[in-house]
Amino acid sequence: MCGIVGFVGNVKAKEVIVHGLKKLEYRGYDSAGIALNIDNDIKVYKAKGKMENLEGVLEGKELDSNIGIGHTRWATHGEPSDVNAHPHSSESGDIVIVHNGIIENYLDIKKGLKAKKIVSETDTEIVAHKLNENYNGDLLDTLKRTIDEVRGTYALVVMHKEVKDEIVLAKKGSPIIIGTSEEGNIIASDIPAVLKYTNKIYILEDGEYARVTKDEVQIFDKKLKLIKRDYIEVDMDEKTAEKDGFDHFMIKEIHEQAKVIEKIVNTKKLEKVKTNIKRYNKIYFVACGTAHYAGLIGKSILDRNTNAAVFAEVASEFRYNEPKIDRKTLLVVTSQSGETADTLAAVRMAKEKGARVLSFINVVGSTIARESDEVIYTMAGPEIAVASTKAYTSQVMTMILTFSKMFGKAVDVVNESKELMMKFDNVLDIEGYVKQLSNKYKDVDRAFFLGRGMDYNLAKEAALKLKEVTYLSSEAYPAGELKHGPIALIDDNTLVVGIMTDERLYEKTISNLKEVKARGAKVLAIINDRNDLVLDVADDVIYIPKSQGEFNAVLANVPSQLFAYHMAVAKELDVDMPRNLAKSVTVE
Ligand code: F6R
Repeated sequence: MCGIVGFVGNVKAKEVIVHGLKKLEYRGYDSAGIALNIDNDIKVYKAKGKMENLEGVLEGKELDSNIGIGHTRWATHGEPSDVNAHPHSSESGDIVIVHNGIIENYLDIKKGLKAKKIVSETDTEIVAHKLNENYNGDLLDTLKRTIDEVRGTYALVVMHKEVKDEIVLAKKGSPIIIGTSEEGNIIASDIPAVLKYTNKIYILEDGEYARVTKDEVQIFDKKLKLIKRDYIEVDMDEKTAEKDGFDHFMIKEIHEQAKVIEKIVNTKKLEKVKTNIKRYNKIYFVACGTAHYAGLIGKSILDRNTNAAVFAEVASEFRYNEPKIDRKTLLVVTSQSGETADTLAAVRMAKEKGARVLSFINVVGSTIARESDEVIYTMAGPEIAVASTKAYTSQVMTMILTFSKMFGKAVDVVNESKELMMKFDNVLDIEGYVKQLSNKYKDVDRAFFLGRGMDYNLAKEAALKLKEVTYLSSEAYPAGELKHGPIALIDDNTLVVGIMTDERLYEKTISNLKEVKARGAKVLAIINDRNDLVLDVADDVIYIPKSQGEFNAVLANVPSQLFAYHMAVAKELDVDMPRNLAKSVTVE
């Protein structure tokens, strides 16, 4: 949440920072801002809304500076506005900062401040004033002494107008990396912001500080002792974070899924898994949102293959449900970003109580990946659209392969995966038809997704996808549960989507679809079989190829992804950056 970019080097800072912020816009787009040191004077430019507004403000301005910081915001303290936008300055304007995270004790710090003029409602501005009061000519030491007074989470990046060749930063709980290139050094919340210039990355750990000049990146521990750290070279380039001729990242990422599956199958079949699942009698799948729904598929695999008690919970509730964790507990975590605050908190709690943590993570080197006992990378590549598509598929696929190895069934699964790759292209062929359906149903008032068994798990992900990109009220229900209340909402402008991949359950789900049809609903069926009963009830049917067990979760999810995407396009909404959302949720 919130994207930070800082630059010091040999080229114009404005270009590097604006480019980087555009790449990080998925992290929040309530406002954006930039501060540049121009001849020992700090100039700050901000705009409410997306980066294009900030670019409008900057247009035509000859800003000759090789050092600056920038920010794209997802609002926590204070509404989205110009004044609440980062960077925030001290009263004198000498110090300027950008921040990702939450300063929990900012009201206490505010009480003791000498500054008279506090202009925003943000927690961050308070830290800018505090830094100014603590300033002693050594910017890094000033930052450390200020951080000693702060409670909360932060990636905090600081510039001073008199120190025009260095940027200092501190990290706890929010990600920050530093890319090193010929053009200079680039600080950023995430790797896509620096890929145009470099793939050589330093990763900062919690409690660490850094001093960045154009020629040097110095990393310090919590006592400001210099640490020797080498950069890592990431296996990504700028192209993987481009739209590649597609109109939006979301549809590009939906189409990339066949390649992602292929890469996963080819790589994972060779990888050894260290976790011995037989040692655990309790297994918790913990994650948020789409990643949680992928975890539900993992749970269904383990339910069938182990004697352990298997649970799946959303991370934000997990800690409060008094889970019984001990050394015989395995926590299985799914996360695209590897930074989700609630998921990370669950990992830390479970580890403290002696559980082993096995995680399925996309972003290499992210905090959860680093803190897990074993990490299986899900290899989806950068996912830029806020609505997750290929990350879900990659999580389900890596879990299928990893668990099958644990149960000695790897060979069968690899063969089945190869078939899946072919079937996947057939599913994408239905895009034209799904687009027609989206145009037909774009004006419905609400949608329900129904399923039984694993199809109910698919319904949850399908309903989430539709609501986040179209803003339609869209809910998932176990097909048999609707008549216990929610059926009251059904009318002739309600769309009900029945998901059916398990032939043992077709008839029952179809009966439930008949109940809503009788009350006026429009019925769309997603099914992996030609079936007369379904033709009798559904207004429209999307057929998908039949597959084995949990592989159905990979295939049957694609029509729902395409449907959500084309509905959002038909409604002329911002598909890649839906309102109020951010890609990486680093606050609890
Ligand atoms: C929905 C979506 C979110 C994320 C959730 C967890 O499309 O993307 O629900 O799945 O915020 O994020 P990660 O996977 O980064 O932990």
